[in-house]
Amino acid sequence: MTTVLKVNGVSRRVDATPETPLLYVLRDDLGLNGAKYGCGLGQCGACTVQLEKEAVFSCITPLAAVQNREVRTVEGLGTIDAMSPLQQAFVDEQAVQCGYCIAGMIMRAQALLDVNSSPDDETIRAHMMPNLCRCGTHQRILRAVRRAADSLAAGRRS
Ligand code: FES
Repeated sequence: MTTVLKVNGVSRRVDATPETPLLYVLRDDLGLNGAKYGCGLGQCGACTVQLEKEAVFSCITPLAAVQNREVRTVEGLGTIDAMSPLQQAFVDEQAVQCGYCIAGMIMRAQALLDVNSSPDDETIRAHMMPNLCRCGTHQRILRAVRRAADSLAAGRRS
């Protein structure tokens, strides 16, 4: 079956069964390897992407659920030479240890900043709760999200 979805602003056609997890489609069919396979059960967040701006676990999101909808992955945020404010904040706070969870962390944080550009620490903490980092860098990740929010606020003032 052919499914049409929009990924990072580009319309893509995919031939796969409707129940194929979005994560497999992104990685295997579209060559977007940012989102990672961790648990495959919606329990770790390594596979997080945005679906219509909302953070979702792509490992448990079937292809049928994204027909004609907008998906954003970490590849859609910025590049190594032109990072988004959020990606830059993760670098500046050295929030990455092994890095396996980071694409998912960034996409969950982006979903928050898209609807709330100046979240307080409690809001950031609660929003990021579903995503796990086995290296234990949560404090640095929280600082990175705070830094990104501050930098977005500074951009609005200038
Ligand atoms: Fe999707 Fe763990 S791989 S939540």
